[in-house]
Amino acid sequence: MAATKKIVMSGIRPTGFLHLGNYFGAVRNYVRMQDEFECYFMVADLHSLTTHPDTKELKGNIQRVLAENIACGLDPDKAAFYCQSHIYETSELYLYLNMLAYKGELEKTVTFKDKVRLQPDNVNAGLLTYPVLQAADILLHRAELVPVGKDQEQHLEMARNFANRFNHRYGETFPEPQAFNYGEELIKVPSLDGAGKMSKSENQMATLYLSDDDDSIRKKVMKAKTDAGPSVPNAAKPDYIQNLFLLMQLVSSTEVMQKYDAAYNACTIRYGDMKKQLAEDMVRFIAPIREKAEAIRNDERYLQEVMEKGMEKARRSARATMEQVREAMGLNYF
Ligand code: TYM
Repeated sequence: MAATKKIVMSGIRPTGFLHLGNYFGAVRNYVRMQDEFECYFMVADLHSLTTHPDTKELKGNIQRVLAENIACGLDPDKAAFYCQSHIYETSELYLYLNMLAYKGELEKTVTFKDKVRLQPDNVNAGLLTYPVLQAADILLHRAELVPVGKDQEQHLEMARNFANRFNHRYGETFPEPQAFNYGEELIKVPSLDGAGKMSKSENQMATLYLSDDDDSIRKKVMKAKTDAGPSVPNAAKPDYIQNLFLLMQLVSSTEVMQKYDAAYNACTIRYGDMKKQLAEDMVRFIAPIREKAEAIRNDERYLQEVMEKGMEKARRSARATMEQVREAMGLNYF
């Protein structure tokens, strides 16, 4: 008998253009995992309503996220690639899990506190229960592995807590989901100004998008923060310099990376040269993805087919889980 494959689930909000952080934190893993596991990848349009209630541009943004993921190598014939709002069972599980989530823990969530700061006039209940909806997305497929960047670590810990509470109260139903990255540590791709991380909607001049043209990539990289260079050999790297090395590690060859690392340690580094090299390697990395994504985006019919196929597969899995959930909870009265 064939061994059953582990189940993988993850999601991306359609709140802006995908960037290098999304690629290295999430999409790169999706592309590898689709060959090894049973995968469910989703465009989290419901989550986006917590911060972007205007839906005028939502359809276009969803299509962009689909196209960009496929351009990066996600294969809708291997992984179910679907839209969160098409899976109605999500809302049901979200409701049940909400009864197992406590106000105090939700208020302490780092992403909630960030959002309260960013949008003090719209601290809606959806924002507070954001991690519960995310747990519903994951548990709905009984996923064990969740490829995400470092910023999602706390949400995964909460998903485990909700799963455990459910199992404890109603009987063993969900496995414990774990955040996953090939290469042990979860990743945080820093922004080019040395302040924070690359982001879809904030920090746009310091974020490299998969849709950036060659000149914007060069401009952004050349503006990255540096200083006069180290004055003693083998000095510790300040954060913003460490960031440049990290980006170089992501897109340049090992030899290039080692050359600049050695120059840094010998105090002979020229940051202008390093940034030029990084900019060209970045252009070489991003340009083919951008071009492919543009072509895919123009094929609306294909994107529709992808969404429909993904929806059907995700619905099958969701329905099977929810039957078990209702049974476990004793909500089967007939
Ligand atoms: P979102 O849309 O903010 O980000 C999508 C994925 O990209 C990762 N990421 C990063 N990784 C490294 N460095 C960065 N600078 C960086 N910025 C973003 C994120 O960690 C994420 O993996 N709540 C989720 C969406 C979601 C979800 C889910 C994820 C909804 N339901 C279920 C997993 C499972 C979010 O807002 O991701």
